[in-house]
Amino acid sequence: MFPYKIEADEAPFDVIVIGSGLAGVYTALNLDEKSRVLLVCKKSLLNSNSSLAQGGIAAVLSKEDSYDLHVADTMKTGHYENDEMMVRCLVENGPKEISQLLAWQVPFDLEGGELCLAREGAHSVRRIARCGDHTGRTVMETLIEKIQDRANITVLEYTTVTDILMTGDRVSGVGCINDNKIAAYKSRRVVLATGGVGQLFRHTTNDETITGDGFSLAQKAGLTLERMDAVQFHPTALFERGTSSKRFLISEAVRGEGAVLRDYEGHEFMTGIHEMGSLAPRDIVTGAINRLLLAQEKAHVFLDATTMTKDFFSKRFPTIYQYCSSIGIDVTQDYVPVVPCAHYLMGGIPVDDFGRTALEGLYACGEVAYTNVHGANRLASNSLLECLVFGKRVAEAINKEL
Ligand code: SIN
Repeated sequence: MFPYKIEADEAPFDVIVIGSGLAGVYTALNLDEKSRVLLVCKKSLLNSNSSLAQGGIAAVLSKEDSYDLHVADTMKTGHYENDEMMVRCLVENGPKEISQLLAWQVPFDLEGGELCLAREGAHSVRRIARCGDHTGRTVMETLIEKIQDRANITVLEYTTVTDILMTGDRVSGVGCINDNKIAAYKSRRVVLATGGVGQLFRHTTNDETITGDGFSLAQKAGLTLERMDAVQFHPTALFERGTSSKRFLISEAVRGEGAVLRDYEGHEFMTGIHEMGSLAPRDIVTGAINRLLLAQEKAHVFLDATTMTKDFFSKRFPTIYQYCSSIGIDVTQDYVPVVPCAHYLMGGIPVDDFGRTALEGLYACGEVAYTNVHGANRLASNSLLECLVFGKRVAEAINKEL
């Protein structure tokens, strides 16, 4: 075992949360303010996949929608391999977590006092609460401000956790490396919220910090992982030549507003493949693009958003508009070259409906956890929802125990 040095007189934390994405931050904010919490992250608090999320947060928020419809879309997209009880838990707790974010002043897009709802692939109705095309960044900036105001939460940035420490059968802390020094922090409760595995792939939409750390920590501590083969490839990352592993995402919400996929001949190839055309579930669109690229020996297909006006596009998708303009693409005049790349892992560390793993004192939530709400393929914008719903439930379970 790594020779961690724990100062004998160092007071233990009540909870250590590893990861500064939405799951980790939301868990920390929902822990009792009387508890002493340590929030550890590998780089800055803003380095996470949540901060990069463009689309938004799916939840039942309109009269046209219902829990049954959201459950049905989630199950169908997941090829019915999802755990339906967990999906119900996810969907039925969604609206109250959006209300909590509104109460915490997250500036969602509103029109006439009502939430503006976006549509993405495989959703039957508009149900995605959003802040332009920078939902993740805006939500995270708002919540990180709250974290910084909480006297009970200590933040440790630029720190890599290398081990979950155990005393007998129970978690007793974490070992980490910070500034080339090793250290250990004591706690009887550790929450893994470390995200997925995107950076293990050659091309990904994921943040540079997302290297599967939580999975190796869990395995080293003796846990077995499930469905690690279930990787989702987002169909529309921007194709750019170069060596960077990180690809810029062109949100599915762009197709939700009417953009369509075309091949090199300009043919709208998804129409003959699925009744939802370019808005079919991600695995179907990605599979179709990959087959086409192999058959036509091309490196990318195109996204055609030229039916949208410059005024509409630049207001609705300012981040995408600016990024594409910066590399010479006018999205309302030119077809945008896009290609699938690694985006999300459906498998992970098995947990119950309160994020408890099989190790006493170890919890997991967000992408690292295997709640099996996603089945074989995640429905768009259900991931931030999962962070909120199960992050809150982990906090509730710990609050009860404390
Ligand atoms: C997107 O905006 O296309 C990504 C949203 C998600 O991964 O759910």
